[in-house]
Amino acid sequence: MSDSTVIISGAGIGIGKATALAFAESNYNVIVTDVLSDEGNNVAKSIIDNGGSAEFHHMDVTSTSEVNSVIKNVEKKYGPLNTVVCNAGIAKMIPMKTMKDEEWDLTIDVDLKGMMRIIRAAAPAMRDAKKGSIVCLASVVGTTYGWDEHVPYSAAKAGVTGFVKGTAIELAKDHIRANAIAPGFIRTAQTLDPVHSVGEEGLEAVAPTIPLGRVGDPSDIADVAVFLASNKARYITGQTITVDGGVTVGL
Ligand SMILES: NC(=O)c1ccc[n+]([C@@H]2O[C@H](COP(=O)([O-])OP(=O)(O)OC[C@H]3O[C@@H](n4cnc5c(N)ncnc54)[C@H](O)[C@@H]3O)[C@@H](O)[C@H]2O)c1
Repeated sequence: MSDSTVIISGAGIGIGKATALAFAESNYNVIVTDVLSDEGNNVAKSIIDNGGSAEFHHMDVTSTSEVNSVIKNVEKKYGPLNTVVCNAGIAKMIPMKTMKDEEWDLTIDVDLKGMMRIIRAAAPAMRDAKKGSIVCLASVVGTTYGWDEHVPYSAAKAGVTGFVKGTAIELAKDHIRANAIAPGFIRTAQTLDPVHSVGEEGLEAVAPTIPLGRVGDPSDIADVAVFLASNKARYITGQTITVDGGVTVGL
């Protein structure tokens, strides 16, 4: 089995699932985590069925105790994590006019504080090991664009870019790198939701306006996560890499 273990949050579906499969292809031992137990177990099972190494743990990123306990158990079994991918996220349509404190809090809790919980738990053993890589999912929303009626999401995702900068500096002395990926339009349950995002029709409408001519596939993001975790990215830290088919650079 590989001596490199990666943990991925929200890895039961979408970008997280594709990232789990891509790390498995690169011979990592993959710790699949999610609040979706059936989906997460299926991802771990498909990796194992293909000759890889994986296991599923239920991990709600809004629970400090659950995050701490999953990471402690994984470290006990496999040693310090080599790579941490903070992917879990929600995108809710929340107009400012009716926004409740709880709605703001939930998005920030999942999309930003959830990442802090994971890194806070995983960093001590990584620091002792003097190696490791962190990859967080930001978005072109927040880094480049605002999103109508998605202020909490825009704020949380902008926060991710600051989170990786601060984390990169604090952990650099122990040779741990931290970077973010800012995806554009990627076809997942999140974007296919017609209420909280653009839906199928919206994706079809936007595709011709994307310079590379298509909506992104989750694997387009997953491959960049594997690259950022690898030694090929050994001098990159504190960066947010936009992966959007050219959306943010022109029409
Ligand atoms: N799809 C896109 O176009 C796009 C664009 C930019 C950024 N992103 C970001 O990429 C990441 C993955 O997005 P996706 O499109 O695959 O979304 P998705 O909705 O398909 O998957 C999100 C995953 O996060 C999990 N999750 C939600 N709340 C959780 C919690 N409290 N604890 C643990 N897991 C939780 C879900 O169960 C799910 O597995 C998110 O952070 C998202 O904001 C996506």
